[in-house]
Amino acid sequence: MASPERRLYEKPVLIRHQSGLQNKFGRAPGLRVMEELDGIPLASLAERFGSPLYLISENAIRRKVQQFRRAFETRYPRVRLGWSYKTNYLSAVCSIMHQEGSWAEVVSGHEFQLARELGVPASRIIYNGPHKDDDSLREAIRGGARIHLDHLEEIARVEELVRECGLPEGVAKLPVAIRVNMQLDAQHWDRFGFNLESGRAHEAARRLADSAELELAGLHTHVGTYVDNVDIYRRAAGRMVELALWVRRYTGARIRWWDMGGGFATRNTLHWAYQSGEVSCPTMQQYAEAICPVLSTLPLEPGEELPELFFETGRALIDEAMHLVVRVISERRLGDGSRALVVDAGVNLLSSTAWYRYDVIPVRSQPSMILEETTLLGNLCMQIDVLRKGVPLPALAPGDLLVVRHIGAYNLSQSTQFIHGRPPVVLVDPHGGAHVVREKETPAYWRQLDRLPGHLAGGSSPA
Ligand SMILES: Cc1ncc(COP(=O)(O)O)c(C=O)c1O
Repeated sequence: MASPERRLYEKPVLIRHQSGLQNKFGRAPGLRVMEELDGIPLASLAERFGSPLYLISENAIRRKVQQFRRAFETRYPRVRLGWSYKTNYLSAVCSIMHQEGSWAEVVSGHEFQLARELGVPASRIIYNGPHKDDDSLREAIRGGARIHLDHLEEIARVEELVRECGLPEGVAKLPVAIRVNMQLDAQHWDRFGFNLESGRAHEAARRLADSAELELAGLHTHVGTYVDNVDIYRRAAGRMVELALWVRRYTGARIRWWDMGGGFATRNTLHWAYQSGEVSCPTMQQYAEAICPVLSTLPLEPGEELPELFFETGRALIDEAMHLVVRVISERRLGDGSRALVVDAGVNLLSSTAWYRYDVIPVRSQPSMILEETTLLGNLCMQIDVLRKGVPLPALAPGDLLVVRHIGAYNLSQSTQFIHGRPPVVLVDPHGGAHVVREKETPAYWRQLDRLPGHLAGGSSPA
């Protein structure tokens, strides 16, 4: 008996027409597109370098650093910006930051080395992190880097290294800072440095006062990341002033620099945020207004200067300067009838998609202005490979290009080569030039550390 023919069934979907209509929430957004980056058409860049493609705007980086410096340098006498290397340690990105006057903030031996290779003197390196290797610590000690101590064992380790390699001429003790963590809100980063409320920070200061090799000269705190409440910085600054006074009173040490870390927010929107990042992200001036006047209340002796003020900003300087261009591979309907697009990049290139509701927009305007909420799936052959849910997108066909915007912080440095390898990174310069600043990875590159023991060589066993 012939089997009855099964009729294809597709769940009906209601598509909310978002364009041009007014409702109680106001006018729906029209379709936005991003056709070019600093005057270069994205379609031509994708044609020339392929897709997916990481793109960086040199102009956008320079503008952000200049905004930062203007906001802080007009409110405090000696401000030093340290570019947080781990946020994005492409040589090109770090070099632009240094050309704009930033120091380097590093958290590993390899970042320390990279900064040195890029021509940064050790004396303009801030060395943070819970695990600094001995070789780079030796170089940091000899070169006068700002070493920020994270734990008691590290204090003892650095003392030992100072005894071993000595200090530069005329320096009696190595000036160092301690990292301090403090309870300011729910997002308490308490796993780094010495805790303030429990008295550990005070204990570390006393320990350094007894040291024959080290002298406490700096205080460092990093209150978290994507901190969009400037009041948290205001309170942190107040506690730094109190601690500096305590240190002066009970140990006699005078704080010569303080470092307020990184952590400023960007205009990206967090998944759990009520408001869009466009609305909630404070300006650099608002951060500066929260921090600088408080730090300036530190009482000074006649002739004494306010401590140098360091920042180690990452996210806020680079997020908005970098984008990921992807191409649509296919369209499909998910089990609930909703639309999904598969694109040629996966979450291995975009780890911050777990945090951010990234802005995803087409490169070209489309004939249809009807937008449908769409899930953007990656190309990894993994169920978890979802770049974004609920993106209002018009009808798109395989081959069309989309841009995932403002992805400069952490995505590249945390990316993996999983399945397809990493794409190239192209920097667009202020004069319309496009430069590959990281080559597309090849299978030969990512297999070069793979080793096959002799007893496993020779192919598969006979059947
Ligand atoms: C010690 C330290 N400084 C600076 C940063 C940079 O922070 P952000 O990218 O949030 O500005 C981080 C990041 O977590 C950090 O751990």
